[in-house]
Amino acid sequence: MGRPKSSSPRDSFANVRLTSQEREEIEATARALGLRSISEYLRHLHKLHNQPEGQVETSTADETQRPSYNGDRLKSFFKTQQGQMYQGNSLDFLHSKAKEQSVDLIMTSPPFGLVRKKSYGNEDADEYCNWFRPFAEGFKRVLKNTGSLVIDIGGAWKPGMPTRSLYHFELLMMLCREYGFHLCQEHFWWNPSKLPTPAEWVNVRRVRVKDAVNCIWWLSPTPWPKANNRRILAPYSESMRHLLKNGYTAKMRPSGHDISDKFQRDNGGAVPPNLLAVANTESNGRYQDFCRLNNLEIHPARFPSQLPEYFIRMLTDPGDIVVDPFGGSCVTGMVADDLKRRWVCIEMSESYLQGAVGRFKGAAPSTCANKRVQYTINPPCSLPVDDAATPLPPDGGQSRPPIVKQPKGTERVKVSKLSSRRVTTDPVLATESN
Ligand SMILES: C[S@@+](CC[C@H](N)C(=O)[O-])C[C@H]1O[C@@H](n2cnc3c(N)ncnc32)[C@H](O)[C@@H]1O
Repeated sequence: MGRPKSSSPRDSFANVRLTSQEREEIEATARALGLRSISEYLRHLHKLHNQPEGQVETSTADETQRPSYNGDRLKSFFKTQQGQMYQGNSLDFLHSKAKEQSVDLIMTSPPFGLVRKKSYGNEDADEYCNWFRPFAEGFKRVLKNTGSLVIDIGGAWKPGMPTRSLYHFELLMMLCREYGFHLCQEHFWWNPSKLPTPAEWVNVRRVRVKDAVNCIWWLSPTPWPKANNRRILAPYSESMRHLLKNGYTAKMRPSGHDISDKFQRDNGGAVPPNLLAVANTESNGRYQDFCRLNNLEIHPARFPSQLPEYFIRMLTDPGDIVVDPFGGSCVTGMVADDLKRRWVCIEMSESYLQGAVGRFKGAAPSTCANKRVQYTINPPCSLPVDDAATPLPPDGGQSRPPIVKQPKGTERVKVSKLSSRRVTTDPVLATESN
């Protein structure tokens, strides 16, 4: 039987010239939004642009074009007694394979809206929220009311500008305003080993400082997810140990805080702040060894195991279900397994999963209860400075300072490494990695 004639046939063509990279990017964004072609994507953008102000579109495609998710497309890749890795699109898991309200914790680090794209394909910051919408819907669908959603997300610089993208804040606003998530508490992951990038703004023009934190949004479908900070205590500081041993006279502080004798109670450890200091320096370990031995690509944007460990301990019980929809090298799965939680990691790339299997070979990894690494930050403004000899550039750093040549024989290796980046005329700026 022939197709019935449409009353409004699409018989008008428009040619759009794109670079092949633009085309790839647009097609990838369209796919992630559940749209089947560039034409559908254009209509979608047009609709978004023309909708009345204040009306928020939460679905990406109209009813006839709603993407069909299918959990059967996911390939079971690797299993332990407590969890498994799937290869495929996590939207198929979130919207089809997983039962509604079945997950206790989503712990994840999505591809970031980086300015300079990485090999795993980051979305442009402006399109980030649109790209994320179907995931947000899926998270909402699978999370229990007592569950939590934890998203580790790094910031990004605007291309060629010493200003920051707002994409990760926009994402947070969208998740709370459009999808009804509650912000339980923002955390910041300080990576003491981060390099001072972008070199152009930090080292060359010296108009910005080192960007060394990632935001971690801890969200939940209700204001009361299960949580207990006694599971994540830090060792007491030297002065607190002294106080516990020698006592403290209860009194009112000048700030007005009443320091009662309750402060003398030993609670087994200190409640940590929402700043997580973890250097992401591991270059040797079971996972890396396995990848090198098997000639597999080491995932370029792993988070350290201490991040999932902190949230899994605080927000879930043994036997609960932890999901990482952007599984990467399956750090979340490894830690969840170690902590006797059930888990699912979904990752698009087969080769990352091949490497991730290495995390489960050999003895169980030690969790950070045994690690007592401490980091210190030297206070800024603690060196003498001559304002007159250190002028603020009147143009805010728009023009590059001339490169001062070091007298022969006095160059330091590190400086010469940086200056190799300085020769770029059009500053394509390095952004942060996860
Ligand atoms: C920032 S990395 C996660 C790294 C991971 N936390 C780790 O420590 O190894 C994001 C990952 O999400 C994967 N990804 C992107 N879109 C996906 C999708 N729709 N379904 C499953 N995986 C996806 C990418 O291939 C990439 O490996």
